[in-house]
Amino acid sequence: MRKKTSKKIIKIANSCLTLQFTAIIIETKKMKNVLIIGSTGQIGSELTMKLRSIYGSNNVIAGYIPGAEPKGELAESGPSEIVDITNAQQIADAVEKYKIDTIYNLAALLSAVAESKPLLAWKIGVGGLMNVLEVAREKKCAVFTPSSIGSFGPNAPKDGTPQDTIQQPKTMYGVTKVTGELLSNYYFTKFGVDTRSVRFPGLISYVTPPGGGTTDYAVDIYYAAVLGKPFKCPVKEETFMDMMYMPDALRAAIEIMEADPTRLIHRNSFNIASMSFDPVIIYNKIKEYVPDFEMTYELDPLRQAIADSWPNSLDDTCARLEWNWKPEYDLDAMTRDMLEKLRIKFGIK
Ligand code: SER
Repeated sequence: MRKKTSKKIIKIANSCLTLQFTAIIIETKKMKNVLIIGSTGQIGSELTMKLRSIYGSNNVIAGYIPGAEPKGELAESGPSEIVDITNAQQIADAVEKYKIDTIYNLAALLSAVAESKPLLAWKIGVGGLMNVLEVAREKKCAVFTPSSIGSFGPNAPKDGTPQDTIQQPKTMYGVTKVTGELLSNYYFTKFGVDTRSVRFPGLISYVTPPGGGTTDYAVDIYYAAVLGKPFKCPVKEETFMDMMYMPDALRAAIEIMEADPTRLIHRNSFNIASMSFDPVIIYNKIKEYVPDFEMTYELDPLRQAIADSWPNSLDDTCARLEWNWKPEYDLDAMTRDMLEKLRIKFGIK
C-alpha cells in the first residue's frame, strides 16, 4: 500500500516537473519582443504573422518603409512602426519604445535587382546591417539576418556545397551577403552580440510574391499553371538551384533563434536545404497535377549568368547536427500545397 502511494507521489511529482518544464519553454518563447525590419516583403509578411502566433501579437513589431505599409491581417494583427534600415535612429527608437530583444533583419534587394542598383544594395545590405548591429550591441538584442545560396560563387564546389568553403560571389547580392556573414560573426566574437543566420535557398510561397530574384521563376511557374497560362522560363534546362517551401524557411528562421547556443559551432551562416531541381523537373512535377500545362524557354541572360554562378545544391549537415534542422516539404508535397492554395487564392476549382 505504502509502495503504491509513494509510486503515485513520484508520478505526480514527475508530471508536475514536466508541466513546469513546458511552462518554462513557453515562458522563454513568450519573453521575446521582436522587431521585424522589412516586415512587408516576401519573407517578412509571413514571418511576422508566424512570430505573432508564437510570441503574442503585441510583442512582434512590423517595421516598414513608407510606400510599403502593412495591409490587411498584417496591419490589423499587431503594432507597426516606420523603420528604415538605413536610418539608425529609427531602429534605435523602435528598439527602445518596444523594449525589443530580438531583431529580424529582412531588408534586402534580391539578386537581379541588386545588379541594376549595386550602390543601393550595398547601402541596405551592409550599411543597414551595420546600423542594426550597432543598435543590437548597445541595446543587447539578438539579430537574425538571412544569407543566401548567392553568397557562394563559381569557385565553390557546385554539388553538396559544404558549410565552410570558398565564398567568392560575382554578384553584388552575394558580395553583400558574404560581408553580412562576416560582420555578423565579428559582432558576435568581438562584442558578444547574439547574431545567427541561415543561407536561404530560393523561397517558394503563394502569399507574397518575391521581386527581382533569380529563383523567382519557381514561384511564377505555379501562378501560370493555376491561371491556365503557358509559362516562359527565364533559365535553361539543367540549371539546378536549391529551393525551399516557405513554411520550412519560416521554421528555420525561428528555430535557429531558439537554438541552444552551447551547441552552435557556426553562427553566420548555416547552409539549409530541402530540394534542388532544374526547370524540367519542376515542370514535370506540376504536369502530374495540371496535365495540359505548357512551358517554353525565354532566357534572361542576367538571371542565367547569376544562376550559373550559384551552387546546384548545398550540404546542410552542420545545421542538422547543431540545431536539429530538418525540412518537412519535398517537391511533391510543396507542389500539391502550392496548387491547392493558389486555386483557393484565385477562386479556381
Ligand atoms: N531568392 C534569392 C534570389 O533569387 C536568392 O537568395 O535573389
